Amino acid sequence: MTPAAAELCRLFGLEAPIFQAGMGWVTTGRLAAAVSAAGGLGVIATGGYMTADELRGHIVRVRDEAPGKPFGVNLLLPGDAPAQGTMASFDLTRIALALCIEERVPVVLSGLGDPRSVLPEIHAAGLRFVAVVGSLKAARAVAEAGADAVIVQGNEAGGHVGPIGTLTLAQLAVRSLPAPVLAAGGIATGAAVRAALALGAAGVSVGTRFLASEESDAHPRYRQAVVDADERSTVVTLACTGKPSRALRTAFVQSWEGREDEIQPYPEQAFDHFWRARAGAIEGDFEDGFLPMGQCAALIDEVLPAATIVERLAEGAAVPA
Ligand SMILES: Cc1cc2nc3c(=O)[nH]c(=O)nc-3n(C[C@H](O)[C@H](O)[C@H](O)COP(=O)(O)O)c2cc1C
Repeated sequence: MTPAAAELCRLFGLEAPIFQAGMGWVTTGRLAAAVSAAGGLGVIATGGYMTADELRGHIVRVRDEAPGKPFGVNLLLPGDAPAQGTMASFDLTRIALALCIEERVPVVLSGLGDPRSVLPEIHAAGLRFVAVVGSLKAARAVAEAGADAVIVQGNEAGGHVGPIGTLTLAQLAVRSLPAPVLAAGGIATGAAVRAALALGAAGVSVGTRFLASEESDAHPRYRQAVVDADERSTVVTLACTGKPSRALRTAFVQSWEGREDEIQPYPEQAFDHFWRARAGAIEGDFEDGFLPMGQCAALIDEVLPAATIVERLAEGAAVPA
């Protein structure tokens, strides 16, 4: 392992510098427990919809199935979140955060928005904090605010994305951030882990590869779609939330092509269409559903147990970079 990767593992209590990315509707206690038990960091995603009781149940499950292992909870923290009523409404996020503090969840992660206003209370409670960001500017801001690590997510990733590719963004972040950097977006193989560590990242955060795991909550048709996808199967669209998001080019996504000017800005578009993420993930609805997915789906040939995925990714970290 590289010194940076070894330091990350020490800081977070991991055996391998592999974070399983939080994915709304897809990563609950089942997958997080399997990843944490295998030596990576399993992450429950609250997705901006999960109730406190549901979240507590998933935390209990991870503690039961991966006793003593670190794990994380991903919160969506859009700075422009409405008070209530849709994806990542601030009231649900506040409740989830309070529960993370009460339950002493080892690592809190934030996606989508600016987490700086909640960072002090997370640190005051003694929890580690990691931000997922899509630009160098946001990476610098959260690192300066004291994030324990920063996940920089490139444009090839599944879910909400910025315009910059992983390779460029990760190198820029490594060059200019005081905090450990994890690369995300397009990482599905041990070779990609090796590449990320070689360019100075301390670790990786992996989404789409775990989407197609046995323990993922994604509908079997969704997981099979990852296996079937090629490198052109996904597109970046504003259709679901009004923010750019990479997803499978389903009928719903295509229905907005050529009339992008009718898409409302976030959060209005999300008010009308956020339900489609659930329909895609849980019901495997390819007509009306929205199915976030990264370009690296093209590299994924089979659904595998999460422990096997962790093992294969970790092989890329084991050799000296
Ligand atoms: C189905 C799906 C749902 C996602 N939901 C979230 C989320 O709730 N919070 C978040 O921070 N990121 C979310 N993401 C982004 C992932 O956390 C991660 O950064 C991304 O999947 C990494 O790229 P990869 O898919 O190429 O591995 C999601 C991604 C996917 C594919």
